[in-house]
Amino acid sequence: MLENIEIMKRVKSVKDTDVTNKRVLIRVDFNVPMDSEFNISDDVRIREALPTINFCIDSNAKSIILVSHLGRPKGRDEKYSLKHILKRVERLLNREVLFIDDFQAQKDLINSQSDSKIIILENTRFYEGETKNDESLGRELATLCDVYINDAFGTSHRKHASTYGIAQYADVKVAGLLLKKEIDSFAKALTKPTRPLLLIVGGAKVSSKLTLLESILDVVDKIIIGGAMSNTFLKALGHNMQQSLVENDLLYEALKVLEKAKHKGVNIYLPVDVVSTDDISNPTLEHVKITPVQDIPTNYMTADIGPASLRLFKEVVSASDTIVWNGPMGIYEIDKFSRGTFRLAHYISDTYSYSLVGGGDTADAVDKSGEKDNMSFISTGGGASLELLEGKVLPAFEILEKK
Ligand code: ADP
Ligand code: 3PG
Ligand code: MG
Repeated sequence: MLENIEIMKRVKSVKDTDVTNKRVLIRVDFNVPMDSEFNISDDVRIREALPTINFCIDSNAKSIILVSHLGRPKGRDEKYSLKHILKRVERLLNREVLFIDDFQAQKDLINSQSDSKIIILENTRFYEGETKNDESLGRELATLCDVYINDAFGTSHRKHASTYGIAQYADVKVAGLLLKKEIDSFAKALTKPTRPLLLIVGGAKVSSKLTLLESILDVVDKIIIGGAMSNTFLKALGHNMQQSLVENDLLYEALKVLEKAKHKGVNIYLPVDVVSTDDISNPTLEHVKITPVQDIPTNYMTADIGPASLRLFKEVVSASDTIVWNGPMGIYEIDKFSRGTFRLAHYISDTYSYSLVGGGDTADAVDKSGEKDNMSFISTGGGASLELLEGKVLPAFEILEKK
């Protein structure tokens, strides 16, 4: 069992406190993907923040201040201004929203708002102290509110001034409804799951995902490993992975995970065949091969799992009652290499299992596969969901009041 989840489940929610006539500050995660013309390509993180904002409106909060980061700016940079998302927030809330360019200079304006006025502060990462969890920035943000609500699950693994520091100085500090929904969903999948519990890991962040595997062996019954993640394991087992992405420093770690899994009776399933290419930018038929993992051609790199692996993984998926998925099976961004990931999404949606998807790219891949609505829960957290699976108590949860 993951004890961190038990601890995080105990945070008080906005429903456990009174926000009527209070100035509330909600840390949201409006870090949404945008194209070069600032069109938002996926606004799910904004939509997922609406229940908490609406709850505060319905409870007649005096004012509602939204605080978020966008991207990773170095200082003030218009490209990362939250002005770009203002219209979408106004449209989704069906209300006019007050944009505050410089909260330090506009405190009186902020404090004079009433009737549940919605206010958005400019990108909190425009302030140097944000990512350093600077004490004075946290304290200053706290003076803006009577109640601090954290609803930024996607940023809950960051110990920053607006996610952590502020809560040290706020009188009341509680979780928003999204934070609660996320943790309850992870709890459902991992604390008392309907078994067998299958973990599917893929993608590319091998080092952090290896730590995750080590800590989760006590919790899960079986693990499928695919994507670039599996290259490291296959190489550790002696296969020649040719030009594939491999973490050579982690071969021993990978072997240790396999050994430990065997010891604990957790079955690990690796690809038996792969789709590989010697020209990722021009994957025409003559540059793509499907082979057993033993026969990857010289100078080729893996780009997807093969059809035989998919048939085997389908059996494992259909024999599981709870499925947690983090990491695509291949380079799903390229059509030719998306089949492994998309088919796996179809297989999961064909089951009656409880399915939880975490990871920015995995969520995107599930969306592209057309199966978004057929998953039980898709987390808004990438890095946050990974750290949660690693067994960590996330800082944003750690600092909130507990029941
Ligand atoms: P998530 O964001 O869901 O946690 P990651 O960021 O760890 O997932 O990994 C996603 C990335 O992994 C994708 O960009 C995908 O193209 C890449 N990937 C998957 N399989 C391979 C592979 N065999 N070789 C190279 N990159 C891969
Ligand atoms: C995310 O997109 O994962 C969150 O918004 C956190 O962003 P960060 O990785 O830049 O801290
Ligand atoms: Mg990613």
